[in-house]
Amino acid sequence: MVPNLTPVPELYVSWDSAQKMKAEAGTLPSWDLTPRQLCDLELLMNGGFAPLKGFLGQADYDGVVEDMRLADGTLWPIPITLDVSQKFATTLEPGQDIALRDAEGVILATMTVGDIWTPDKACEAQMVFGADDSAHPSINYLHNQAGPVYLGGPVTGLQPPVHYDFKARRDTPNELRALFRKLGWRKIVAFQTRNPLHRAHQELTFRAAREVQANLLIHPVVGLTKPGDVDHFTRVRCYEAVLGQYPAATTTMSLLNLAMRMAGPREAVWHGLIRRNHGCTHMIVGRDHAGPGKNSAGDDFYGPYAAQDLFRTHQAEMGIEMVDFKHMVYVQERAQYEPADEVEDGATVLNISGTELRRRLAEGLDIPDWFSFPEVVAELRRTRPPRAQQGFTVFFTGFSGSGKSTIANALMVKLMEMGGRPVTLLDGDVVRKNLSSELGFSKEHRDLNIRRIGYVASEITKNGGIAICAPIAPYATTRRAVREDVESYGAFVEVHVATSIEECERRDRKGLYKLAREGKIKEFTGISDPYDVPAKPELRLDTESVDVDHCAHQVLLKLESIGLIAG
Ligand code: PPS
Repeated sequence: MVPNLTPVPELYVSWDSAQKMKAEAGTLPSWDLTPRQLCDLELLMNGGFAPLKGFLGQADYDGVVEDMRLADGTLWPIPITLDVSQKFATTLEPGQDIALRDAEGVILATMTVGDIWTPDKACEAQMVFGADDSAHPSINYLHNQAGPVYLGGPVTGLQPPVHYDFKARRDTPNELRALFRKLGWRKIVAFQTRNPLHRAHQELTFRAAREVQANLLIHPVVGLTKPGDVDHFTRVRCYEAVLGQYPAATTTMSLLNLAMRMAGPREAVWHGLIRRNHGCTHMIVGRDHAGPGKNSAGDDFYGPYAAQDLFRTHQAEMGIEMVDFKHMVYVQERAQYEPADEVEDGATVLNISGTELRRRLAEGLDIPDWFSFPEVVAELRRTRPPRAQQGFTVFFTGFSGSGKSTIANALMVKLMEMGGRPVTLLDGDVVRKNLSSELGFSKEHRDLNIRRIGYVASEITKNGGIAICAPIAPYATTRRAVREDVESYGAFVEVHVATSIEECERRDRKGLYKLAREGKIKEFTGISDPYDVPAKPELRLDTESVDVDHCAHQVLLKLESIGLIAG
């Protein structure tokens, strides 16, 4: 039996039952799904994660973490877990039903809570991602964003999450299977991607499909990818432009609302299972598939062929075959792309790396026709104008009285003098008056305060303005979260105002250090509350031997050196 002929089981009930259950579920304890959980739930309900029937229970979770297998022995490499707050978990009993809602409060599903447990996250990181290193975006997420308690249990699907964008390009596994049946496609090779496609990708995907005499499914991820990736709206417009480059009737494209984990080899196997569920018979796996970038020692997390090796080991059991990804290069003399290992000696090979492409886009430089399609380049240029025209955020951090506000004010005035982009100063004190007046200085409240500043800064950055933030922002994990928010839209420049606590206390401009020493102000940063010194800020300022004007000038020089202001 060709796998894509039979439908895959879904978790949805009929429309009538869903209406009834929705009315009843209104009174159940309810959980507002995070963006990642929302992606996971969609693929659970539509069969993308078959054979899973819900969020993993403890025995399945333990098996998956330890050796990529559910308790019954089925291969499944990534834990699909419902992480919740301690507060919510303590209100629940095993056996109870809960409602799962989207961000607007719509009930999408119910879940019968089976297991409630506190996972060993360090072990999960080590086993699933190969290291407990927070430089990995998913390990950072696991420790700093995911809730501390996991709930497991079967899910009953009431309605799919609503998408307003690219509706016609989104397909459930069964919709794709039906399409393949209708088109008479029996062999389908899937191409997973989270990046815009250029000519080399078009060549390699087309060759891969031809090699196994299959049709091609471009299957880009539009759920959650790596922080800093090109947004999916831009990417989909690029993919649509590339689609016309394939011979008619050989290729189609569908968008996959997956939340990637960047788990390298395990992720490759997971992607294979998901593509199998979507009716594909083959999947292209390349070097460093779903790689998260460098670890904190500056090395790759996974070996370049680890993903291919793991996929190959399990492909028979998975029911989907791997197609090797050929590294394609442009051979100038022949004016065409060829696999790197087939190029004749002495030929001139041209290549533009991802970093070089970003540099050319950032600086508005030429991107040759042999490298990409003019429509793709035009889309990328539209979304990413040269850096000197993009929005960005300068984020000062340092002790109270370190000089953050004074330098930030000087910087703001200098930037306004230059003109061109609107400038907003989000100073610590001002924010606390206007945005966060109800907050104190507990860790929870400080985090909330900084996340609000980050949210506003990311909106300003998105809309092409300059945000200057000047809070104490004592916690590294919160600063990193803000960085990730902002970097989706533009540059984030962290400036550590490195005035020592002794000097701040000596200056004691507001008289607060004296009160803190006397115990009249509690949880005072540097005295009775911690401050994580930034490990790798874009700039560290010494204010003790340099005046304010010069400090602000140093920031300007930094902004100029990274192309954010024109020289
Ligand atoms: S945080 O941690 O980033 O949310 O703090 P922030 O909003 O920047 O704090 C702004 C000012 O609050 C005054 N203040 C305190 N700072 C630290 N710890 C405690 N407990 C505290 N209580 C009040 C302090 O003057 C901060 O001012 P500046 O000098 O602007 O940093």
